[in-house]
Amino acid sequence: MLATSLLFLLRFHANMATSMASQAAARGLRAASFRHLFLDKVKCTTVSPRRWLNLQEYQSKKLMQESGVAVQRFYVADSASEALKAAKRLNAKEIVLKAQILAGGRGKGVFDSGLKGGVHLTKDPAVVGELAKKMLGFNLTTKQTPKDGVKVKTVMVAEALDISRETYFAILMDRSCNGPVMVGSPQGGMDIEEVAASTPELIFKEIIDIFEGVRDDQALRMAANLGFKGPLQRQAADQIKRLYDLFLKVDATQVEVNPLGETPEGQVVCFDAKINFDDNAEFRQKAVFAMDDMTESDPTEMEAAKWDLKYIGLDGNIACFVNGAGLAMATCDIIDLHGGKPANFLDLGGGVKERQVYEAFKLLTADPKCNGRDEAHMKTFVSSLQRNRLSYFIFMFMVTMETISCKCSQHIQD
Ligand SMILES: *[C@@H]1O[C@H](CO)[C@@H](O)[C@H](O)[C@H]1NC(C)=O
Repeated sequence: MLATSLLFLLRFHANMATSMASQAAARGLRAASFRHLFLDKVKCTTVSPRRWLNLQEYQSKKLMQESGVAVQRFYVADSASEALKAAKRLNAKEIVLKAQILAGGRGKGVFDSGLKGGVHLTKDPAVVGELAKKMLGFNLTTKQTPKDGVKVKTVMVAEALDISRETYFAILMDRSCNGPVMVGSPQGGMDIEEVAASTPELIFKEIIDIFEGVRDDQALRMAANLGFKGPLQRQAADQIKRLYDLFLKVDATQVEVNPLGETPEGQVVCFDAKINFDDNAEFRQKAVFAMDDMTESDPTEMEAAKWDLKYIGLDGNIACFVNGAGLAMATCDIIDLHGGKPANFLDLGGGVKERQVYEAFKLLTADPKCNGRDEAHMKTFVSSLQRNRLSYFIFMFMVTMETISCKCSQHIQD
């Protein structure tokens, strides 16, 4: 029976391109080693134990600007009149106005003011003012936000630039190289995992010596591999070096520029960037971590993060209490497969302590979508388990196996 269950579980893991996994990914559950996918060809779904620091687009752009990276000229506004002023001050041929929220899919989002689209292009500064009026203070709903959306408090007013060619460039900490690596592709603007899967020969990699930094010949070779020609090659190489400066300066684990583009005027520009930061560097990156805006986060997820629990709220009514990210995903998927809906994704993690187990129970039982349980009862239950560590681990194992085997046998009977 056990062997069957395990086999079943493994099979599940093998094709985990499931609703649950992608839903969790969309909600910001980042696979820490996801990028290794195209470096090692080994898919590693390690889930970070903590909530990642996410910066708004304008904050990332500011950091890049400060390191001399070429970005579009922009201003930030929190009122319509400021947005209008900014648009006039830009004095650009074309202006792009972007609502600043952390969730993706802004372009296709809808405001509760009725305005469609969180990103707008216009040539007229007055239009920027009008649009900003329908953005600021209203909720923007995209496919990645909660269903009531997220309140927009800031807009970015930027110069719109034409892009004649898009490339992909990233610097990341890579475990298999024991240090930073540059990854680039002339095929930018699209999903890089897709490029890696269909045309791996278009992915280029340069290992960076952390003591030496990016050498000029490496930067130039990467620029050439990215397809920059003539004087643009030098420009791109300089951008690459500056991005590496930024990577070091802010203790990033990843700086991903997609696209790193070229304009018809012959400029190399970083159009969009995603920066991930090393949590361990929080103590010396106070200014960066102070930019963390928690207001967009789900309160339950915040509470869970406080206890280092990997928790993501979902829409269903079956609470999941699981140890191990893979098992948690498999459990959610099995529930899904049998027509149920998980109320959450919860991975207690390896070194879980009694208090965390208690807090996890509390979070789950407080969920109005699920049938509640007596909190005092849970506390007694958990501490009695804690008295005997072995029984605690057996309990964890049983909970997991129980869920899987009963679901599996049900499935097999079906
Ligand atoms: C707007 O979004 C906030 C979260 O940012 C939420 O608390 C609020 O209920 C939403 N308002 C409406 C009217 O949906």
